[in-house]
Amino acid sequence: MTPAARMQAAIELLDGIVAAARERGAAADTLIARYFKTRRYAGSKDRRAVRDLVYRAIRRAGERPESGRAAMLGLAAAEPELIDLFDGSAHGPAPPVGGEPVAEAGIAPAWLLERFDPLVDDADKAALLERAPLDLRVNKLKGEREAALALFPDARPTPHSTIGLRLAESVQIEQSEAWSSGLVEVQDEGSQLLCLACEAAPGTRVLDLCAGAGGKTLALAAEMGNQGEILASDTDRARLSRMAPRLARAGVSIIETRLLDPGREREGLAGFEADLVLVDAPCSGSGTWRRNPETRWRITPERLARLVKLQADLLDIAAEHVRPGRHLVYAVCSLLGEEGRDQAAAFEARSSLVPAPLSIAAGRAGGSGRLLSPARDGTDGFFVARWRRPC
Ligand SMILES: C[S@@+](CC[C@H](N)C(=O)[O-])C[C@H]1O[C@@H](n2cnc3c(N)ncnc32)[C@H](O)[C@@H]1O
Repeated sequence: MTPAARMQAAIELLDGIVAAARERGAAADTLIARYFKTRRYAGSKDRRAVRDLVYRAIRRAGERPESGRAAMLGLAAAEPELIDLFDGSAHGPAPPVGGEPVAEAGIAPAWLLERFDPLVDDADKAALLERAPLDLRVNKLKGEREAALALFPDARPTPHSTIGLRLAESVQIEQSEAWSSGLVEVQDEGSQLLCLACEAAPGTRVLDLCAGAGGKTLALAAEMGNQGEILASDTDRARLSRMAPRLARAGVSIIETRLLDPGREREGLAGFEADLVLVDAPCSGSGTWRRNPETRWRITPERLARLVKLQADLLDIAAEHVRPGRHLVYAVCSLLGEEGRDQAAAFEARSSLVPAPLSIAAGRAGGSGRLLSPARDGTDGFFVARWRRPC
């Protein structure tokens, strides 16, 4: 592909990504993979170059742009050499004309920037749009961190998590023996830290209420030495069904999955009493913009309000399953106050559970929980809090 044709491909992809953000369609990564499936003429260098252009344009535009072309003209405003690629050639984009919409540079929509936790400063916000490293979690059930380090010469131990490796460059991890044998899983260091803060041990009885495809469930099972019991529930059948092959690879056998009906979670969980309930709640994902920068174009005040209400409901449901003297952990991959410290404070005000110490080797205290951020901790952004049911 010529450089201009790559530019045109990036604009077409951005059109799809903008539309998907408006209509709650597929994620950017999925759209990019689909696009190239039907365009076999694009070689791996072409694909990498187009993908890179797309993500640079997404990162630069704080608000959802009008079109892919507007997003790319926004990037070209910062990188003027890109304008030459709008050359009107056979497969390239038409030259710019005066008065065309151009996406403005920014971190996120103004209303959303105001909703961040008061601790989150401009450096934190800017770092949310940097590129993330690739973090791996080493599965104790399959081997030690040193063994995994030996398999990845470019990896370093993660700075805070005792079970992680960090690779500066993305690699095709799913093609490695370490991944297919279950020795490593992809997991951000922040997620690893909050799993460690759950203090799960062999024999613990766990309810992982929003288990999804099991990223945290697997980490808890490893901490438990595959001894005890984990009920992993979710309302999303597709996500939950992606857990089985991961369990098999990781050598984990203590997990039962359970599909819940939205709004009827209590019925699905009736009678299950746990030593640890984890609520890894559905959220805005504002802490993961390093990986999914287009998700900041998706969130609306109405959608955020619905999520905050759902999080509160899930916390109340979760609390009912905590045995006396045992713990509830709440986590969101978000740095918005409403989803984090305010949510935790509101829960404390209406619940009989009491704040419990949180042993996390990073982050800052934010209300009764802790905030992890890319700028300060090198992790995705998270809020995590822990409570105990008094005896
Ligand atoms: C942040 S994700 C969980 C990620 C997962 N724990 C992991 O580590 O990979 C939040 C999950 O909550 C689920 N969810 C949404 N509404 C729910 C509900 N009412 N009850 C239980 N889970 C729900 C979503 O389907 C989603 O999988």
